[in-house]
Amino acid sequence: MELFIDSADVGELREAMASGLIDGVTTNPSLIAKSGRKMGEAIAEICEIVPGPVSAEAVATDVDGMLAEGRYLAGIADNVVVKLPLTENGLRATRTLADEGVKVNVTLCFSSVQAMLAAKAGAYFISPFIGRLDDAGVTGMDLISEIRQIYDNYHFETKILAASIRTTAHVRDAALIGADCATIPPKTFAALYKHILTDTGLEAFLKDWKSTGQSIL
Ligand code: G3P
Repeated sequence: MELFIDSADVGELREAMASGLIDGVTTNPSLIAKSGRKMGEAIAEICEIVPGPVSAEAVATDVDGMLAEGRYLAGIADNVVVKLPLTENGLRATRTLADEGVKVNVTLCFSSVQAMLAAKAGAYFISPFIGRLDDAGVTGMDLISEIRQIYDNYHFETKILAASIRTTAHVRDAALIGADCATIPPKTFAALYKHILTDTGLEAFLKDWKSTGQSIL
């Protein structure tokens, strides 16, 4: 599974990159707003920190505007992936940009038939929002299962990028289903390392080792 960090905070991203386990980054207009930085500057710096795919979202809602913003964002760095919403205009722009060789992450996906249209439009990534479906009283993980089955049925190459991740269980379940990637908030990524039995087991090992009076070096 490719692990992405869902953040536009360069401090958080530098820390996550130090793990050696991060394959990319996703941002969105809300994360850019939270960073307090200009889009172009933030994305340029993130692309220097993270060699993998970095998603940067257009905010236009018309096709021509999406194309203009998408081409600008794609020009910032070779590893920029343009994010477009799952709307009719978003998929029309996806088709055009994909034909130009621009990778597109189609975002705000909440149904498997939406995801099927995105794949047919040439999306490189599809971002189904698990947590927001859960928040709405729907089992968001079911969407990942449906998309996986549809993409496998028709051999779509679009990569499933599980998004709106809220818990380590979301990461686990998306991996069990076979999502290609997950984009994870920094705190949830840090939680992936943790298990109480690991902590207590290590504590016990070190206590017993200390009793030997030995040192390895
Ligand atoms: O950035 C895309 C997605 O991961 C946002 O999720 O629901 O936490 O805003 P959310």
